[in-house]
Amino acid sequence: MDKLLIAGGARLEGEVAISGAKNAALPILCAALLSAEPVTFTNVPRLRDIATLLTLLQQMGVKVERDGDTVTLDAAAITEPVAPYEMVKTMRASILTLGPLAARCGEARVSLPGGCAIGARPVDQHIKGLEAMGAAVEVEHGYVHVKVPRLKGASIVTDMVTVTGTENLMMAACLAEGETVIDNAAREPEVVDLANCLIAMGAKISGAGYDVIRIQGVPRLHGATHRIMPDRIETGTYLCAAAITGGHVRLTGARTSSLDSVLVKLIEAGCTLKSEPDAIQISAPAHLAAVDLRTAPYPAFPTDMQAQFMALDCVAQGSAMIRETIFENRFMHAIELQRLGANIRIDGNTAVVQGVEKLQGATVMATDLRASASLVVAALVAEGETIIERIYHLDRGYERLEEKLSALGAKVRRTS
Ligand code: EPZ
Repeated sequence: MDKLLIAGGARLEGEVAISGAKNAALPILCAALLSAEPVTFTNVPRLRDIATLLTLLQQMGVKVERDGDTVTLDAAAITEPVAPYEMVKTMRASILTLGPLAARCGEARVSLPGGCAIGARPVDQHIKGLEAMGAAVEVEHGYVHVKVPRLKGASIVTDMVTVTGTENLMMAACLAEGETVIDNAAREPEVVDLANCLIAMGAKISGAGYDVIRIQGVPRLHGATHRIMPDRIETGTYLCAAAITGGHVRLTGARTSSLDSVLVKLIEAGCTLKSEPDAIQISAPAHLAAVDLRTAPYPAFPTDMQAQFMALDCVAQGSAMIRETIFENRFMHAIELQRLGANIRIDGNTAVVQGVEKLQGATVMATDLRASASLVVAALVAEGETIIERIYHLDRGYERLEEKLSALGAKVRRTS
């Protein structure tokens, strides 16, 4: 298994290009299932999760063409509306094929994703919404089996804000008969990017980005071309890497409008930020101030940035309280940060971080995607060398990470 070796102490300087958003690309690639005509996507990030999804779509009968960061999908003939366990267990976002397959084929068999390191991650809201739209749903032998001649528009209120739940139901509703209203909808920018892609394909959607989304079903969707939005979590991660090293970095291809809650916290920590139309510059002080965090659905502070910010608080001046309200087990990185000398106390979904003068390099283990990012951020300032194991987690969500960090002056290399 690959490892990352990072020698701490380098101040990050220079420019880094932000890639397309993983969590926009995943639902948007699934949206191609809704059309019998080819759909072309640009700015698609080169990530393991994307490769896995393209393989899954190919198995379903979708023709896949890839040229750099441009992907064309032709779902004229879906021969196998099934997402098998061996695929889904490696990439839970495969559940996003359920809604489109139910809408386009009237039938789907998708393996239950199962839990992951950060929590149980049930999909009951996805199922409840499809049942409201008239689908017969059986959950048996670890698979969700959906059958419905044609989905009917319905009024849906999700029990909690769910990003992929909102995305699955919005895609299903595009081809349903009549109007669907999704209340308590997720407002994440990735939901808006998906809606914009669906509208370009001929869908009739209003309210994306707000908590009530209305979709008027249409008989079919046509082809289109759509550019994936920049990855706001990758942007936030590199901002944290610059911040913790007291660096000065310009992130190109970044969209700051989707990151306000993160930018506010970086300013509170003592950083200076300069926003441009599609770039952002950060200058960080030698010592950061500790900042309290409470994760919540967009536009509040994103849970996907909690681990990276905990790394900042580990070496900041003062103490910070971090509350994780979205997932029940998203502090796995804390145990590994403690191996680097961090002073963190966990009590349920709250972590109290006391900033320390220095972290010491050590061997640590990545447990999930954003936890691994947190360990990379911490390793950039830890004294000596840090070895991060199981970095396949990182490859799922960060394109060419060591290349981008090295270009900014970090001393990082990958070994097998
Ligand atoms: C999406 O996951 C993201 N993944 C996650 O990013 C992100 O952390 C999460 O949204 C929250 O922002 C993708 O977009 C591919 P949820 P998702 O449904 O949709 C509970 C990353 O690192 N829930 O919004 O699976 C659930 O257990 C990943 O890129 C139900 O109980 O998250 C959680 O506690 C990690 N039943 C809460 O709701 C359901 O049917 C929010 O989950 C659905 C969700």
